[in-house]
Amino acid sequence: MQRILIDTDPGVDDALAILLAMLSPELHIEAITTVCGNVSVTQGTENLLRILGVLGLEEFPLIAQGEAQPLVKHLVTAAHVHGEDGLGNVSQLRNADGRPLYPSANTSISSTSGVDLILETVTRYPDELTLVALGPLTNIAKAIRKDAAKMQRLQRIILMGGAVEEYGNVTTTAEFNIFVDPHAAHEVFHFDVPIHLVPLDATHQIILTGERLHAETDKRPNRITQFLKDATQACMEFYRQHVGFWGFHIHDALPIGMLTHPDYFESVPAHVQVETEGILTSGMTVADLRQERRHPNPNAQVCIKVASEAFLDHFFERLQ
Ligand code: BDR
Ligand code: CA
Repeated sequence: MQRILIDTDPGVDDALAILLAMLSPELHIEAITTVCGNVSVTQGTENLLRILGVLGLEEFPLIAQGEAQPLVKHLVTAAHVHGEDGLGNVSQLRNADGRPLYPSANTSISSTSGVDLILETVTRYPDELTLVALGPLTNIAKAIRKDAAKMQRLQRIILMGGAVEEYGNVTTTAEFNIFVDPHAAHEVFHFDVPIHLVPLDATHQIILTGERLHAETDKRPNRITQFLKDATQACMEFYRQHVGFWGFHIHDALPIGMLTHPDYFESVPAHVQVETEGILTSGMTVADLRQERRHPNPNAQVCIKVASEAFLDHFFERLQ
């Protein structure tokens, strides 16, 4: 059993990742912290409660709301991809009697900040905790600034972000999570803790088509599969219009799969740096993956290949 803390900006693919993690018996989610990104942090926290509400849990991980603004830049959100509420507008759906179809889970938000909950959790489980980062790295950079010695006791950080040999998804060179807070990402990559990066190079290898999603969810109609269909509709429509296929990339689910099924993933060591200044390249992750150019001091493992069919089969097996 692996102890994890999820830091997230929920987010449709964050929702899938959280559900996958909650349904993975190999993982124990000690805490979940929210951060601004896909939507404002308050909306993200509301979304998190809605996502957890789908599962009908009796016990909940600790939850805390994190940072509302990136370290330096103004917040850029992605509501145009994830729907106005960040969850495909499932917050608007109602039962016949007018009650919300997806109500928030009946649990409370901790009064401590996201940054403090991260520090408290790593202190509770020194050298044991994996921090899974699914959004901009603002909370993590702030936790490092606040108490680097405590953060040094993380076992590792697995983060979805960046684009190394792949084009970006916000600008030509930058991936969303790094683009939103490149200064935080820069500080995290310069921090001495094992980092495993899951960039677009890997996440773009998995294409979840609308056809597959509907075929799989129709096999076993239940609350979770209905949520999967409802929450992903807007996102799949965005992809149909702007990316060229009906479906989407389930970016944030990959780090969760990597924890439970590491053999599906192939990674190489690299020295990853983040561009914080460039007019055309702000938020770009720069790393030379060529074997002969390998940096003597790699600061991360970079995932470059995923067994996509095996991963998707596993994903649906767990989420049904
Ligand atoms: C990342 O950006 C967000 O929109 C997604 O939730 C994911 O974390 C992909 O670039
Ligand atoms: Ca995310």
